[in-house]
Amino acid sequence: MKAIVQNEYGTTDVLRLTDLPEPEAGPDGVVVQVRAAGVDPGVRHLMEGTPYLVRLMGFGVRRPKARVRGLDFAGIVHAVGENVTEFRPGDEVFGTCQGSFAEYALTTVDKLARKPGRLGFHEAAAVPISAFTALQALRDKGGITPRQKVLVIGAGGGVGGYAVQIAKAFGAEVDGVCSTGKVDLVRSLGADTVFDYTREDFTGGYDVILDTAGTRSLTSLRKCLTPLGTLVIVGGEGDGKWIGPVGRNLRALLLGPFVKHKLRGLFSTENREDLETLRALIEEGKLAPVIDRTYSLAEVPEAIRYAGEGHVRGKVVITV
Ligand SMILES: NC(=O)c1ccc[n+]([C@@H]2O[C@H](COP(=O)([O-])OP(=O)(O)OC[C@H]3O[C@@H](n4cnc5c(N)ncnc54)[C@H](OP(=O)(O)O)[C@@H]3O)[C@@H](O)[C@H]2O)c1
Repeated sequence: MKAIVQNEYGTTDVLRLTDLPEPEAGPDGVVVQVRAAGVDPGVRHLMEGTPYLVRLMGFGVRRPKARVRGLDFAGIVHAVGENVTEFRPGDEVFGTCQGSFAEYALTTVDKLARKPGRLGFHEAAAVPISAFTALQALRDKGGITPRQKVLVIGAGGGVGGYAVQIAKAFGAEVDGVCSTGKVDLVRSLGADTVFDYTREDFTGGYDVILDTAGTRSLTSLRKCLTPLGTLVIVGGEGDGKWIGPVGRNLRALLLGPFVKHKLRGLFSTENREDLETLRALIEEGKLAPVIDRTYSLAEVPEAIRYAGEGHVRGKVVITV
């Protein structure tokens, strides 16, 4: 099969379109014929091995343990292990794995769900990682409840675009922050008020702020929370090569015990239950991906470079 492979950490120059043997399902695995794969900042972090903390988290200290890049996918079940009863060859599925920038990918049933019927493969592939993150940030870390006032910073990006829709689905009042060119998009996703950060700043009164951009200080964000409000730090690309955006999480962790605000970091997790929750929201018409650009497998380096500029309108997708 064709796959995007890397043997060392580095820029997109380390990526090669190469022939590899197809993965085997083994007793518990599921091999999926990948039809489309999502691109998100995590792909670039794993390609570069930065922040270096990533390497210590089990992804390989000197070189990447998984040589094929790509985390989320949509496709067709090709083969299943003898212990797998939930899926059969031919099922249309979406989910996550290590190595979706390939014609075939190996995953397990706990990372897989049936593809939403409403979505094409390229749309379904844009969902898992970013929408898991939005869901877990709002529900598990933000403790979101109906009629709360929620602010999503980076509302026209991968995570933020889903967060606006999911917060709306939870019955919250949602404001979004984005650049000029995305104001109409964010409004169309359901935001009640949209702040163009190049022209104006948001003011206070938020029960939950979800920050995907990492461009503001904890102090300035806390000023915009209600007295018992919650700040969820999802992302941002700052603080250098060693710990990257985790630096803000550490500062929040240190400050947390001394303030009434809840300051929470997030490491999103991939699981089938949340994939089913997302599928249900999609089937109910409450959640839909926004696709900015699609690229072919050979164009993965270009896709990662474009996503790395940090201004994607929704999601970037690889079609295989
Ligand atoms: N914690 C986790 O488990 C987890 C999981 C997934 C992702 N992440 C992280 O979350 C972050 C967002 O991921 P993503 O996929 O949504 O990335 P993305 O699609 O690149 O979105 C980033 C957003 O930040 C916005 N932005 C940039 N400067 C801004 C500013 N000054 N004010 C407000 N917004 C600004 C951009 O909006 P404009 O284009 O409008 O400028 C863009 O929409 C990344 O750092 C990623 O690594 C964390």
